[in-house]
Amino acid sequence: MLRTFTCLFFAATATFAADSLRQATPWASGVGLSDRIADHPEDWPLLMKHFAYVTPENCMKPAATQPSAGVWRLEGPDRFVEFARSKDLKVVGHCLVWAKDDRTPAWFYQDGAKPASKEVLLARMKEHIDKMVGRYRGRIATWDVVNEALADGGGYLRDSGWTRACGEEFIAKAFEYAHAADPDALLIYNDYNNELDGKREQMLKLLASLRARGAPVHAVGLQGHYEIDRIPYEALEKTLIALREAKLKVVVSELDIDVIPRGRWWADNGSHHEEMSKINPYANGCPPEILARQAEQYAKLFKLFQKYPDVIARVSFWNLHDGQSWLNKFPWQRVNYPLLFDRQGQPKPAFTAVMKELTTPTSK
Ligand code: G3I
Repeated sequence: MLRTFTCLFFAATATFAADSLRQATPWASGVGLSDRIADHPEDWPLLMKHFAYVTPENCMKPAATQPSAGVWRLEGPDRFVEFARSKDLKVVGHCLVWAKDDRTPAWFYQDGAKPASKEVLLARMKEHIDKMVGRYRGRIATWDVVNEALADGGGYLRDSGWTRACGEEFIAKAFEYAHAADPDALLIYNDYNNELDGKREQMLKLLASLRARGAPVHAVGLQGHYEIDRIPYEALEKTLIALREAKLKVVVSELDIDVIPRGRWWADNGSHHEEMSKINPYANGCPPEILARQAEQYAKLFKLFQKYPDVIARVSFWNLHDGQSWLNKFPWQRVNYPLLFDRQGQPKPAFTAVMKELTTPTSK
């Protein structure tokens, strides 16, 4: 009798785990969500079945929260945080400083007719961080503190109003201010392509330097915006090992696999834009062979992640299902299929492959 009960119990548990990402992953399972999730009850069952952490896609960014000096727009973030509380989901605050000129409201950098001095810029940054982290203290326990500060194509830091005024000090200060505003929060440095050879070294240099300054960086975000057939498995593994050695946690913060490769968009000074902006090969549906390839590549990625459960603290997808992906619009308009769920919120082959990887002991 007891044996029958035990078998039934384990069968039931296994069935549930095989069906729910958040039950099956050894790390926290998260997703970046449209800011208006509270108005879309049709999305809630899928969200709550698979995810425990939610990142607001846009409404907490500096450009959204403080578009002009002292003008705060916090209704969106307040609603998002309240929604998460009501559903028992944890919020990742995204982001306090986005170290790019086109993502930083211009007023931050200006002091009348002249560029703001380092002191003025840091004071503004402190005020922004104090307000955001202080307001949600006790309700947001994880923050992307600085986003995308590393340069592309070599060098060290990205050129921006931040670096021009402060060098790398603004990054250390952002972490100090966030920690002072909420000493219990987990603080993340977040970037893209930071697992690749070259940018990885830039990142490790930055992290070492921040550590030497005593800046409280607790984890590194690898955004994970990948393209089909170009997933950098080896570089990713090297990065996971390097960050383990640096005693830092990793979050895969914005995962997706684009099925319409976009890398060439940025090549040759943008000379392919016109030609590429006409590419929309799967407007009437994604061919099964592409979905199968994507599934295989997602599974291989999760197989790799599973080798590092001591390093990886969270894996968050960037958007809930294919219909909501930012990759339908960026860098050009096309019908895309980068996630685990289709436009109806139904599991794709990629979901099945990932769940198989997560729940089949022999495949590890
Ligand atoms: O809401 C306005 C709408 O009113 C307006 O008509 C329309 C015209 O362009 O723009 C709409 O805003 C857009 C917004 O997304 C909502 O769709 C912005 O132009 C557009 O710039 C914005 O893009 C976001 C992008 O960050 C820039 O903030 C994407 O949704 C968001 O997915 C993306 O997320 C970033 C992460 O924060 C950091 N890592 C990379 C990731 C992908 O780029």
